[in-house]
Amino acid sequence: MAEKEMDKYEIITHPNPILRRKAKKVTDFDKDFQNLIEDMFVIMRDAPGVGLAAPQIGISQKIVVVEYAEPEKEDEKPKAYVLVNPEIIRHSEETTEDLEGCLSVPGLVGMVERWDAVTVKAQNRFGKNVKIKADGWLARIFQHEMDHLDGVLYIDKATEVFEPTDEDLENLRD
Ligand code: CO
Repeated sequence: MAEKEMDKYEIITHPNPILRRKAKKVTDFDKDFQNLIEDMFVIMRDAPGVGLAAPQIGISQKIVVVEYAEPEKEDEKPKAYVLVNPEIIRHSEETTEDLEGCLSVPGLVGMVERWDAVTVKAQNRFGKNVKIKADGWLARIFQHEMDHLDGVLYIDKATEVFEPTDEDLENLRD
């Protein structure tokens, strides 16, 4: 994509009030929507990040894109997910506290408790109903990104928020 074209979107940061809105349901899966999904993947990879919610580029709609490779499968190619109008329909009893960062909260990380496993009901980019089971980091990414659609940031839930060391950042990337 041409660089000029991408200038129309930029990642907005806390305390921009758009990040606090409840995102609207997507009803139109037209060509403009498909282009928006493509743009979101480009912006996320550029950042770089493993997940991006539409409110983070100032678009208050229920859209999440994720691209993530399971760390235990090193040769595994990253898998791309598009969650439109997503809902968590099941989750584990077990929770884990771990480190999170957010492209909309630059320079900080925090310890956040999340469910170990979730089942997400959503629509794919073409409006088809899908169900996705996730655990570990992927489950954490889904929960973090879906919180953005409710106007919730990880700093609202974190037990502590701090400036990361290089080691923290290295762990986050894995
Ligand atoms: Co975030």
